[in-house]
Amino acid sequence: MRTKFIAGNWKMNLTKTSSIELARAIAKAIPNNVDVGIAPPFVYIDAVASAISGSKLLLGAQDAYCEPSGAFTGDISPPMLKDLGVKFVLTGHSERRHILHEPPELVSRKALAIYTAGLTPIHCVGETLEERDSHQTLEVIRSQLEELKPTTITDPNRLVIAYEPVWAIGTGRTATDQQAQEVHHFIRDTMTKMWNRDFADRVRIQYGGSMKPENATSLLSQPDVDGGLIGGAALKSESFLAIVNAAARLSP
Ligand code: PGA
Repeated sequence: MRTKFIAGNWKMNLTKTSSIELARAIAKAIPNNVDVGIAPPFVYIDAVASAISGSKLLLGAQDAYCEPSGAFTGDISPPMLKDLGVKFVLTGHSERRHILHEPPELVSRKALAIYTAGLTPIHCVGETLEERDSHQTLEVIRSQLEELKPTTITDPNRLVIAYEPVWAIGTGRTATDQQAQEVHHFIRDTMTKMWNRDFADRVRIQYGGSMKPENATSLLSQPDVDGGLIGGAALKSESFLAIVNAAARLSP
């Protein structure tokens, strides 16, 4: 049985004060049967870490560079994030792939460096509308999964996949339950081939892309949907906690 994992991706939003308030409101309301995380902007991570210390809320980051230290102006390394109490880091988010043009080789190196530093990559995969319309969805997802290397990543508890159809992110348009389940099942199948069945059965696969309180229960009820990566709805404690509670009601 995979414990559901709801993570909030705050992107480039909030202030120091509102970050602390939001993190505190979430930290005090986490149910016992769900894993919950937040990924604030880098500059607020330390303040948020102090605000939630001693709680079950997992701290995440939205990016990390692929080297532990060195002359990489402006970048932040996985060991630095670990030092602040970060547990998970997003890799391959579509905004980094498509707006910042991060190539697959860099996404791959980042995911492996994050894992090697002892952190959990949440590796994001997802097709654009053009790719879906030209029936390339599964091929795109497979190649993005292949950015991960089974020889380096060996602990299924330290890997999370997020299926985020690009056309559903921040658009208000959500994949149907069937579209999500079809791709999540394909992801598990591909991981079985890359690693093995036991490994694939343990990795959590989140859905992301306009998940909100109104559609969370039906998406999270799909057999291969093990949680959510939430953008817009993660910026208010009411909507984020409503999704967390929907996951809790579906969990033993
Ligand atoms: P959204 O973002 O919930 O606002 O669609 C999800 C994400 O980008 O992780």
